Amino acid sequence: MMSKKICILGGTGFIGHHLVTRLVKEGYQVRLLTRRRERHRELLVLPTVEVVDANIFDVDVLTRQFKGFDTVINLVGILNSRGHSDHEFRRVHVELPQTIVQACRRNHIRRLLHMSALNADASHGASYYLRTKGDAESFLQATKDLDITIFRPSVIFGEGDSFLNRFAGLLRKVPLLLPLACPNSRIAPVYVGDVVSAFVHALKDRHTVAQKYDLCGPRVYTLKELVEYAGAAAGLRRKVIGLGDTLSKMQAFMLEFAPGKPFSMDNYRSLQVDSVCDGGFPEIFGISPTPLEAVVPLYIDAHRKSHRYHSYRSKARR
Ligand SMILES: NC(=O)c1ccc[n+]([C@@H]2O[C@H](COP(=O)([O-])OP(=O)(O)OC[C@H]3O[C@@H](n4cnc5c(N)ncnc54)[C@H](OP(=O)(O)O)[C@@H]3O)[C@@H](O)[C@H]2O)c1
Repeated sequence: MMSKKICILGGTGFIGHHLVTRLVKEGYQVRLLTRRRERHRELLVLPTVEVVDANIFDVDVLTRQFKGFDTVINLVGILNSRGHSDHEFRRVHVELPQTIVQACRRNHIRRLLHMSALNADASHGASYYLRTKGDAESFLQATKDLDITIFRPSVIFGEGDSFLNRFAGLLRKVPLLLPLACPNSRIAPVYVGDVVSAFVHALKDRHTVAQKYDLCGPRVYTLKELVEYAGAAAGLRRKVIGLGDTLSKMQAFMLEFAPGKPFSMDNYRSLQVDSVCDGGFPEIFGISPTPLEAVVPLYIDAHRKSHRYHSYRSKARR
C-alpha cells in the first residue's frame, strides 16, 4: 500500500512542519489545506508541496480539494476554545473528522491517518479536549469502509514545540521563580521525529489499518521536572514552585481570562490524568523512542521572543 499523493489538514502546525518535511524527502506529493496560506510561506519553498487556502469545515470544499489524492492525514486540533463550552472542541475534533470521512467517500479515498491524543475517551475523558478527541476516535473506529489508523501521542517535544519552548520562554520572563500548576502530573513526552516516523511507516504498512497506537517517550517525568529541565537546558537559573491543587485550579481559572488563554480549566482537567503509556513504543514501527535529553539541548533557546517556526523560517530562507 504505497500512497504518493497526500492531502493534509492541520499540516501547517508544529507536527505538520516535521511531517511534511519528511514526506517530501520520501518523494510524496503533498497538499496542505490552511486558513491562511500567506502565514506559511516557509512551506511554499518545499518542492512537491502546495499550500491551499480552504474552509475545511465545508464538505464541498473538502471534496474538491481531495480530488486526485489517495490519502488524507488529519492533524487539526485545538488545546483551548475561545469560549468556555465544548462547542468549538466539538466542531474541530468531532464534526471535522465526520466531514473529512464524507469527502473521502465522495472521492473514493480509503486511507486516512488521524491524530488523536493519549487518554482520549468519549465517555470518561477528563476534559472537553480529551472527550471530543475520544468521540472522534469512536466515530472513526465505527467507520468500516475506510482504512483508518489513529495515533494517540503523549505530549510531543521537538524543534518548534509549544511545550518546552513555552516553559523556557515563561521562565525567562519571571525574575526568580515560576509558580507551576499541576506540578506532579506525570508525562512521558515523545519525540516529534518518532511520531512522524510512525505516520510514515503507517502509509506503507497495511497492518496498521484499523489500529490505534499510543505513543510515548522512553521516560516518565513530572511536569515540574520537565519545566525545570527546560529552564536548565535554556541556561536559566529560576526556581519552579509547584502549586497545590486549590492554587492550581485558581491559576487555571484566572489564566482562562488572560489574552491568548495560556492555561485554562480544561488544560487543568487534562493534567489530572497521567499522560503515560502502558507498554513501550508500538513494536510495529521498529522505533526505539528518542530520549528528551538527546534532543532538547539542540533546539531550546529561551532568548528568542517567539521561537516557534523561527528555525524553519531561517532554514527556508537559506
Ligand atoms: N503537540 C503536542 O504535544 C500534541 C500531543 C498530542 C496530540 N496532539 C495533536 O496533534 C495535532 C497537531 O498538533 P500540533 O501541536 O501540530 O498543533 P498546532 O501546531 O496547533 O497545529 C494545528 C494546525 O491545525 C489547524 N487548526 C487549528 N485550529 C483550527 C481551527 N479552529 N480551524 C481550522 N484549523 C485549525 C492550524 O492550521 P492553519 O492555521 O494553517 O489553518 C494549525 O496549524 C492536534 O490534533 C493535537 O491535538 C498534539
